[in-house]
Amino acid sequence: MKLTVNGVQREVDVEGDTPLLWVLREELGLTGTKFGCGIAVCGACTVHIDGVAQRSCALPVSLLQASQKITTIEGLAENADHPVQQAWAELDVPQCGYCQSGMMMAAASLLSQNPSPSEAQIRSHITNICRCGTYPRVLKGVQIASEHLANKGAAPQNEKA
Ligand code: FES
Ligand code: FES
Repeated sequence: MKLTVNGVQREVDVEGDTPLLWVLREELGLTGTKFGCGIAVCGACTVHIDGVAQRSCALPVSLLQASQKITTIEGLAENADHPVQQAWAELDVPQCGYCQSGMMMAAASLLSQNPSPSEAQIRSHITNICRCGTYPRVLKGVQIASEHLANKGAAPQNEKA
């Protein structure tokens, strides 16, 4: 299969029912995307498909077209300087960190659609689970990233060109 991942065309030789998560991690070595529940609940495996956050653990790779842009945390920004990543670093959002790439991908997707989300919108959009309970800092992180965006006066570019 041909896939476009982080702006690069890749070819993988896998069964069509292989979840995208395992193609990313095992075939392409993109281990920033994590396995948590495997049933599309926890959000640890969140990536972007054409800019929209999706859980990759329950997404058979055969459902994807070569023309669709898959973005992982490794490809979110050229120098890991997406406003969400900057806000996360400023606030020291993670505890153990395991869930955080999924959190950031969900946050980046939200902000690309809605650069100034309300608290309620953040809470309803980001349904990822964090065993360490970083939810208050995640909420604050999204709000700070939103402020950075407002100061820049532009919606975020979520993917490398
Ligand atoms: S590992 Fe995919 S949602 Fe939990
Ligand atoms: S920071 Fe540990 S699971 Fe979220």
